[in-house]
Amino acid sequence: MKILKLFIVALVLTTSQVPASAKERWYSDEQVTRGEPLFQQNCAACHGQNAEATPNWKQTDANGNYPPPPLNGTAHTWHHDLELLRRTIREGGAKFGGQMPGFEGSLSATEIDSIIAFFQSKWPDEIYQRWAGRFESSDLPSLNDIVVATNKAITRLLRQRIGNAKIDDVSKTSVEGVWQVQIGNRYVYLLDGGRYALMGDLVNLEDGRNLTEQARRLTAIETLSEFDDTDLVIFPARGQSRAMLNVFTDTSCPYCQKLHGEIDKLQEAGITVRYFPYARGGSRGPGYQHLRSIWCAENRNQAMTDAKNQRFDDLPPGDCEAASMVDRGYLAGNKMGISGTPALIKSNGEKIEGYRPYQELIPLLIQQP
Ligand code: HEC
Repeated sequence: MKILKLFIVALVLTTSQVPASAKERWYSDEQVTRGEPLFQQNCAACHGQNAEATPNWKQTDANGNYPPPPLNGTAHTWHHDLELLRRTIREGGAKFGGQMPGFEGSLSATEIDSIIAFFQSKWPDEIYQRWAGRFESSDLPSLNDIVVATNKAITRLLRQRIGNAKIDDVSKTSVEGVWQVQIGNRYVYLLDGGRYALMGDLVNLEDGRNLTEQARRLTAIETLSEFDDTDLVIFPARGQSRAMLNVFTDTSCPYCQKLHGEIDKLQEAGITVRYFPYARGGSRGPGYQHLRSIWCAENRNQAMTDAKNQRFDDLPPGDCEAASMVDRGYLAGNKMGISGTPALIKSNGEKIEGYRPYQELIPLLIQQP
């Protein structure tokens, strides 16, 4: 669906593009006026009062460093889109081995925009138009190309590896030229316009964030939020509720039985357990019919406890409407990449694989932010 949307957006934008129509500048005169003193104060010492320094900007100094380039449109500043300009000013040049200081803490985002407005006001119209056109015309067809290439590359890749698959989402990552494709619970990264695909986790080494894991958790949270409490079997916290645990469970799984045997301890610790049905092996799995019966029982909690203790005599037939939850639970679990039971999902979307004894589990849940 998303892919289709991307296509349509790309198509609409490319066809509605009017050639050579002058683009209005993105900033107001007022921003230019506010930007001038800020520029004089923070930037002029290096880049010149009118953003003209240094004319000889391609010439490195004795240490191999580049001088501050002119920002008045004569150098290559117009090759950078607005976001990159903002980032350069915020972060400075140190990251690329440059000399420019960063202004993160000292200038606000609004001030930075005013400063950009000021030096862009020095750009001749011709340069401005090229800058403005550059990020429209070059971006969109290539976006289109990438989506097409993505589709092909991924389809090819998946034929080899997974059989067939449906692409759930394609999105840009914060890494230039790298796209994230979600196929069910798998994430693939495309490089070089979809020519190469990389399977693995994308981690930002600067702050240690695992971006793939973030995406996975988001999917989990979204998936779980499609269910109401009435769809589930809930064992509520006793006293004050301190944490929530989503458990995908199957009556025929020994570790699910073990976990259920300790459910009192979890409830006493202030943990609400929300059971989702997940029949290993799907509708032909050994627990499937029992799960359906539980969801049809008048007292689902009692039925769950009975079934977990292998007492099936009092279970009603699993032929009511609510039993369809057993299929929904299975699909939801698969979407989140659950491969076995019990599968524990914290409320922040983090997955805990397999059974953990309550002594170990409780601290994992309570300390969560
Ligand atoms: C101490 C000197 C210095 C100061 C102060 C300084 N810059 Fe720079 N700036 C540089 C240098 C040197 C570069 C070249 C890249 C590098 O070495 O980091 C640069 C690069 C840039 C670039 C990238 C230009 C391009 O064409 O790639 C922008 C944009 C920029 N500066 C804007 C600013 C703004 C806006 C300010 C004030 C808020 C500022 N700079 C303050 C030295 C400085």
